[in-house]
Amino acid sequence: MIIALIQRSYFEEGLKIANSLRSEVLEFVEKMFPDGEQYVRIIDPNKLENNVVLIISTLYPGQDVSLFKTLLLADASRRHRAREIIGVIPYIAYSRQDKAFLPGEPVSAELVIDMFKAAGFTGLLTVDIHNPDVLKSFGDKAVNIFISDLLVERALKYVSDPVVISPDKGALNRARYAAEIHGLEYDYMVKSRDRITGVISYATKSVDINGRDAVLIDDIISTGGTIAEASKILYEKGARRVVVAASHGLMVGDALSKLEKANIHKVILANTLGIRHRHELIEYVDISGRVADEVSTFLAKLK
Ligand code: R5P
Repeated sequence: MIIALIQRSYFEEGLKIANSLRSEVLEFVEKMFPDGEQYVRIIDPNKLENNVVLIISTLYPGQDVSLFKTLLLADASRRHRAREIIGVIPYIAYSRQDKAFLPGEPVSAELVIDMFKAAGFTGLLTVDIHNPDVLKSFGDKAVNIFISDLLVERALKYVSDPVVISPDKGALNRARYAAEIHGLEYDYMVKSRDRITGVISYATKSVDINGRDAVLIDDIISTGGTIAEASKILYEKGARRVVVAASHGLMVGDALSKLEKANIHKVILANTLGIRHRHELIEYVDISGRVADEVSTFLAKLK
């Protein structure tokens, strides 16, 4: 039997995933102690024994609390002898610090994955994590679900024969993946410095964007700075229309107004977070079907 424990803020999406896998959803109590510590209690925990437990949760907003509650649910499941404890966690917070950029820094992306292991997770599925390499401690029991094809498919409502562009080389994989599926050109942006004047300039690496539409694709939009800057450059280089596609739209502070000022035509986001931004610029793509399919394939391999 498959049992699902679904975090409150991701319940609508989690329920779709759980239902399509015909799993039984178990309720749990959650609260915060007066001193700020978290508490969870699974109601009817005997149902966990010897079963596969899916913990469906996302780690934004409220990264620290969401992370800790997710760990507590795994610990409780382990203590009740669940056979497998699979995290279905579309957005994993702290994933951008995937290396120590400066001496003295931690590698939070690896730490979070190690915490999942320590709490009892035996498998993990996530969506478009910033750097999939950080999942390595789970070996073949971790899946990074690609969704850039779904985002670009929706973006195609607003652009014609676009170039799919990532704002830097490191993010090229998701642009390439979507572009190849849809038969589109792809490219990435590069930063260069004039050796004589010292002036920094950005451009697409090889495709001429002049007169063409662009789908600018990234994993995360946080403050909107990266995407707004990249979009301005594409327009300066003659792009006709820029549509943005991102897996995780955090939209912190004045991110939306930055994107408006950058003349972005539409922002396509996936529903990977526990919040939805209501704004005429934003359109959501429901990725729960894709996630459910991937979980189903993953579970079939466990048998
Ligand atoms: C960075 O490497 C990420 O892929 C995103 O480009 C970045 O996190 C976006 O952040 P912001 O919206 O604050 O520029």
